[in-house]
Amino acid sequence: MIRLEGSKVAADLQAELTELTAKYREQGIVPGLAVILVGEDPASKVYVGRKEKMAEKIGIKNFAYNLPSDASQEEVLELIDQLNRNDEVDGILVQLPLPAQIDEQQVLQTIDPAKDVDSFHPENVGKLMQGLPGPKPCTPNGIMHLLKAYDIPIEGRHAVIIGRSNIVGKPMAHLLLDENATVTITHSRTKELAEITRLADILVVAIGRPNFLTGDMIKDGAVVIDVGINRLDKKLVGDVDYETVAEKSSFITPVPGGVGPMTIIMLMYNTVKACELRRIP
Ligand code: GUN
Repeated sequence: MIRLEGSKVAADLQAELTELTAKYREQGIVPGLAVILVGEDPASKVYVGRKEKMAEKIGIKNFAYNLPSDASQEEVLELIDQLNRNDEVDGILVQLPLPAQIDEQQVLQTIDPAKDVDSFHPENVGKLMQGLPGPKPCTPNGIMHLLKAYDIPIEGRHAVIIGRSNIVGKPMAHLLLDENATVTITHSRTKELAEITRLADILVVAIGRPNFLTGDMIKDGAVVIDVGINRLDKKLVGDVDYETVAEKSSFITPVPGGVGPMTIIMLMYNTVKACELRRIP
């Protein structure tokens, strides 16, 4: 079994992006990323903090906004509108989930698609579905990069995804399809789930339940990607029961240090790319 070390692959990409931003800085161009957090959700605060820190390390100018948990829809939309018009800002990210009074769809649709570094705007989702150029959502794209970094073949293989979220499961299916995998999406209502997961050459688990996938649910030699980050008895665990799954798998991502760092670095990549497309002729 080989551990898929997202932190190492992300560190290589970090070095490449740092070099690129240094080159742009010489031309007087500094990529900018605006990160909006609404409320005080502790997990979201941690994720946003990591994104802001990585941006600074790479040479991306960070614009941080923390709105109160009772912020109104109008306040959030007004801020996005202002950032859409700010030429120093290349990427806008609104951390999800949002408080209940905020209409998430309206927020995501207000972000200028050219600055949509999460790729959650319907225009970019449509482009992804049709295989047109555009930003790729960070977690699924990070997983594709990780698979490629370890030369894991995708074409013709059966990829099974557990979870159908807009952030991971659905876009993951499209990226895998684009690489000619045969894709099955399963979810919390899927019957006889283990019979399907045991067919998987590549398994992507993004269901948000600690230690959900156990060793008896995979075939020998499967590649297992764990997207989960759950707090269990003060410890961080994934959606995969690492001990029982690791011994049967050929490749497996650890938690932490697997998918998480790849998500963050893909956000940085999307920001630098958005900057290039907007500002570099
Ligand atoms: N919440 C969980 N994952 C993500 C992500 O990739 N982007 C944003 N904006 N919010 C998230």
